[in-house]
Amino acid sequence: MERKNILVIIFSIISMIYGSLPPSDDNILHIGGIFPIGGEGGWQGGQACMPAANLALDDVNREKNLLPGFTLKLHANDSECEPGLGAAVMYNLLYNAPQKLMLLAGCSTVCTTVAEASKMWNLVVLCYGASSPALSDRNRFPTLFRTHPSATVHNPTRIKLLQKFGWSKIAILQQAEEVFISTVEDLESRCKEAGIEIVTRQSFLSDPSDAVRNLRRSDARIIVGLFYVVAARRVLCEVYHQNLFGKSYVWFFIGWYEDNWFEINLDKEGISCTKEEMRLAAEGHLTTEALMWNQNNDTTISGMTSEDFRQRLNKMLKEDGYDIDNNRYPEGYQEAPLAYDAVWSVALAFNKSMEKLLKMGKSLKNFTYTDKEIADEIYSAINSTQFLGVSGYVAFSSQGDRIALTQIEQVIDGKYVKLGYYDTQSDNLTWKNRERWIGGKVPQDRTIVKKVLRTVSLPLFISMGSISALGIVTAIILIIFNIWNRHRRVILSSHPVCNTIMLVGTIACFISVFLLGADGRFVEPWEYAGICQARAWMLSIGFTLAFGAMFSKVWRVHRLTTKAKADQAKLFMSKKISSVQKKVQPWKLYTMVSGLLAIDVIILGAWQGLDPLQRTIEVFPMELPLYGDDDAKISPELEHCESENNNVWLGIIYGYKGLVLVFGLFLAYETRSIKVKQINDSRYVGMSIYNVVVLCLITAPVTMVIASQQDASFAFVALAIIFCCFLSMALIFVPKVIEVIQHPRDKAESKYNPDVGFSKEEEERYQKLINENEELQKLIAAKDEKIKILKQKIAERDNLKSGGTGNVPKDSLIIADFVTGEGTSDSAIGGGISVYTRSSRASASDFEFSESYL
Ligand SMILES: *[C@@H]1O[C@H](CO)[C@@H](O)[C@H](O)[C@H]1NC(C)=O
Ligand SMILES: *[C@@H]1O[C@H](CO)[C@@H](O)[C@H](O)[C@H]1NC(C)=O
Ligand SMILES: *[C@@H]1O[C@H](CO)[C@@H](O)[C@H](O)[C@H]1NC(C)=O
Repeated sequence: MERKNILVIIFSIISMIYGSLPPSDDNILHIGGIFPIGGEGGWQGGQACMPAANLALDDVNREKNLLPGFTLKLHANDSECEPGLGAAVMYNLLYNAPQKLMLLAGCSTVCTTVAEASKMWNLVVLCYGASSPALSDRNRFPTLFRTHPSATVHNPTRIKLLQKFGWSKIAILQQAEEVFISTVEDLESRCKEAGIEIVTRQSFLSDPSDAVRNLRRSDARIIVGLFYVVAARRVLCEVYHQNLFGKSYVWFFIGWYEDNWFEINLDKEGISCTKEEMRLAAEGHLTTEALMWNQNNDTTISGMTSEDFRQRLNKMLKEDGYDIDNNRYPEGYQEAPLAYDAVWSVALAFNKSMEKLLKMGKSLKNFTYTDKEIADEIYSAINSTQFLGVSGYVAFSSQGDRIALTQIEQVIDGKYVKLGYYDTQSDNLTWKNRERWIGGKVPQDRTIVKKVLRTVSLPLFISMGSISALGIVTAIILIIFNIWNRHRRVILSSHPVCNTIMLVGTIACFISVFLLGADGRFVEPWEYAGICQARAWMLSIGFTLAFGAMFSKVWRVHRLTTKAKADQAKLFMSKKISSVQKKVQPWKLYTMVSGLLAIDVIILGAWQGLDPLQRTIEVFPMELPLYGDDDAKISPELEHCESENNNVWLGIIYGYKGLVLVFGLFLAYETRSIKVKQINDSRYVGMSIYNVVVLCLITAPVTMVIASQQDASFAFVALAIIFCCFLSMALIFVPKVIEVIQHPRDKAESKYNPDVGFSKEEEERYQKLINENEELQKLIAAKDEKIKILKQKIAERDNLKSGGTGNVPKDSLIIADFVTGEGTSDSAIGGGISVYTRSSRASASDFEFSESYL
């Protein structure tokens, strides 16, 4: 290599000498050239660029129409891409004759040094190989132009591609080099402008492993990588190890690496990946690259196509000893057209300024380093230079930057495939639709989080719903039954209105099952709050109607029995035998139910008014989808009905209901063995109260625990409601239905019910019977007295006889009651009046005794 470089230098110097022989010394325009060739590290692009520049000199000098009468001569030396050496070369060029009209430079660092200094000599500097964005600073480099596009030329292209594929979240991985730092700064400001989020910006000096690992951690999917090719290989190997490749990831690399960069020099650079692994990791990545070769077959200003130029350059390089046929290109081969076009730019600019200077009476030949006028003329000439070169259309921006097309490529099956071109200037993206994604679709720029509402499973809802519907139908049939058979004794004496209220409450409870299952599957989020309210109202009122009706029954029964006991006591005290007429006022029952209902309405109204139930969302930990792509994650959500002070309101409601429940339980227990004829089904009512209480006490706490499992809690609550309602209906109505079926002709007999008004004759008859009964009871009492006296006498006699005491029955209490109840119809006297004789030791024998005695 060293020898080749030296050969190149010697060769070019020889050719320079040859090229400058024929014209006289006066007609030579001298320019200086600084080429990085023999250095270590950095860009040694002079290896290919210097031959290209010499080629251009030949062509320019051969062109008759260009710089007529003048010859362009290049004085070149090697900078090794070292800024210090570059400066030394520059001073040599400037301080040694002949006078130079312009400087060519390559390698960003050298170019920076040269361009910053040369303004002091009024020299225009043209860089053919410097991509540093820092050079686009007109204040610092007022005389700099470059045929090499700035590295930032990739950025508009990157933004365009990001927008094209709908990516709005990227990560950046960069080598800590000045050129990449300024490129990233430019990229960041463009991203900000375009509304693209940069999740992370990782940089590394030489070992990218930590930086790549950090990328993995920040869930980066679209990653822009900026580094030199040696670092790129390390990055790619680390990418393989960190599994940051494949269908979920898109890498943007710089396009100026060799086409097979990821397969070569692996052993030499100690890359711990095999060729296959590198190929795998590289598959599908995108590159952006400023175009340095004219893409079409247009004839350029030199009369060549870019392909002609390639042939000539290859031939020249082969002569220099490069094995072009085996893809052994010298460094800077890609940029060679830039060097070629740089020389043409110089020549064209000189040609242009010569004409103008001639009018001013000046000549380029008279240029000195203090001559600002000629310098300005050269500057404006090159600034306006436009031509079609082998590197494409050559023009300079106001910053002195090359305006260029960028090319987008993708690695498909291990080979770079051109996807399209982008013209930054006119925002013209030419796309060939050749891109291929590993997953078959454009990768996402982030993990897509799908919000999935957890809803009650449909089969469960349908089964619960059908049972509830059946319940509603049953309840309606029972209401009809209740009204249809209202004249029957068995119905009449059971407070049918009360039972109807209970059935209505049951229907409300069944409806609430539907409301409980009406979740996000059926209702829109904005309707859900309404469902919440409806649930609360429906369930509360249903409960109050159903349970309240049962509660008021047992309450009445309890009242009746306590009253009866008091009356017994009164009777006992006064020894006055009278009939105790107990009539259950229906309004008392209704008042009880209405009272409970009113409390309900007040509580619910306050709840809704002050702190209404709202739809709240419980979010569960992310889940992987069961099927489909692994890019998505599922964020399960569950709707809840909650108000701000949910617990307070629930406490109030539960407290109130609990109180009613417990009190109902107490009353049911107290009256468990009491049969009151006015309310013939009180024992069944009691039983259904037990059942409701038990289920409620189980359900309420359990549902609070399993509230997060929508299916379980719905099933639990729905089953509890359904079970309660069906059992209550069964307990209260099955005996009645059986009775009605067994005694289909019972209707006419039932004449009397304390709750139902009756006719006048019946009243009279009833009154008569009462009187009769009273008479009879008086008689009984009188007889009893007599018996007592007689018994006493017998006892006395017996005592006298045997000296012991006999078994004397204690005082008998007689309660006369108006009974129409079942089971006593046999002993009914006069159509519904029966006489119960109950002694404190109420036994059958006592009863028989007194009756037979009667
Ligand atoms: C060079 O300048 C002359 C006039 O001075 C002009 O006629 C000629 O076209 C120019 N050459 C080129 C290649 O532009
Ligand atoms: C440049 O080349 C000349 C010979 O052509 C040589 O004398 C000189 O040392 C070289 N180096 C510099 C830095 O100019
Ligand atoms: C965009 O560029 C292509 C060639 O690269 C050209 O054919 C096309 O006309 C251009 N379109 C616009 C709008 O400039």
